[in-house]
Amino acid sequence: MRILVTGATGFIGRTLVLRALRDERVTEVIVPVRSPDKLREQLARESATGTRKLRVIKAAAPAWELGDIGPVDRVVHCAGVLFGRTREEYFRVNVDGTLDLLRQLSGSPRTIVLSSQSAGGPTPAGHHVKTLEHPDRPLSWYGESKLHMERAVREAGHRGIFFLRAPMVLGPGDQATLPLFRMVRGKIWTKPGRELKHFSWVSSDDLADAIDAWFERGSDDLPVAHVTSPGTITDADLMLTAGKVSGKKGALLPVPQMLLKPVAFASKFIPAIGEKVPSLTADRAREIWPNRWVIDPDPFHAATGWRGQATLEDTLARTLAWFRREGLV
Ligand SMILES: NC(=O)c1ccc[n+]([C@@H]2O[C@H](COP(=O)([O-])OP(=O)(O)OC[C@H]3O[C@@H](n4cnc5c(N)ncnc54)[C@H](OP(=O)(O)O)[C@@H]3O)[C@@H](O)[C@H]2O)c1
Repeated sequence: MRILVTGATGFIGRTLVLRALRDERVTEVIVPVRSPDKLREQLARESATGTRKLRVIKAAAPAWELGDIGPVDRVVHCAGVLFGRTREEYFRVNVDGTLDLLRQLSGSPRTIVLSSQSAGGPTPAGHHVKTLEHPDRPLSWYGESKLHMERAVREAGHRGIFFLRAPMVLGPGDQATLPLFRMVRGKIWTKPGRELKHFSWVSSDDLADAIDAWFERGSDDLPVAHVTSPGTITDADLMLTAGKVSGKKGALLPVPQMLLKPVAFASKFIPAIGEKVPSLTADRAREIWPNRWVIDPDPFHAATGWRGQATLEDTLARTLAWFRREGLV
């Protein structure tokens, strides 16, 4: 089996590539990346085995230029902009880049495109979970670009494509949780707002299993779905569990959300701030304000029989072990 994975130098793409290299069913892993050197260095640090199956192509969205790669059996498109500076940047890579990639693949291979819960927006007021039937109401340019991408691909008439709307993904290699582990080393742990925020989440291992499940058992009857690990977590759970696995204790300090707004705004114009807290751009900060980002994984379960298994504590413990190995905490 020949598979193609984009975004292999990122958190999720790297997780999938490491698995594919170990998977005896896979004969070739084709990875178009912006920086082959970055990929090789990452794989060496992970002591990756099976790299003889790897075919690295230097390419980038929005004009991929894959060359003649021949027919592939499976594609997972992970490359994307998560924290851009302009709306145009999100749309150029997430929308135009996806359309261009799909145009270049011959023979309509079965393809999973990583979309996001952000495409649908938060759980609607008065509801426990956001289902696929609720109207999509993205709050950020990021979410808009993911929703637009889904629609544009459908309009272009591509077949055999599944849009996987993931919630917050946690696991080893996720740089986005580094500030959390650094914070819990101190005594005061700040969280936005007094009220608890409730989230769905998925571990990177569960996500990789869900991707496998769709390739094995998914059909075109379900072109888009949410996947989650078990349970809903709160922002306080995230901090307390990060503290627990780090062997640290601290006091949760709610920070008025209004205080975050100027920081988020400044990060757009003062690159030094933005580089330090890339997740706090004014655009993505809009996603901090709602208190409920809980989604419904049941349609995916009904279609594939797959359910997440991971626990938050185990996932964060393995994430911390990865940061320690990398010398980051
Ligand atoms: N992480 C989450 O919690 C989460 C949740 C829901 C959905 N998702 C979706 O899952 C996918 C992967 O996310 P991630 O967390 O792995 O993100 P990530 O760690 O930021 O990785 C993004 C990847 O995309 C590549 N990329 C960015 N711009 C590119 C371009 N112009 N051309 C080619 N490659 C480009 C990056 O390459 P470089 O290394 O060269 O920068 C990197 O390999 C994204 O589509 C994201 O929207 C993620």
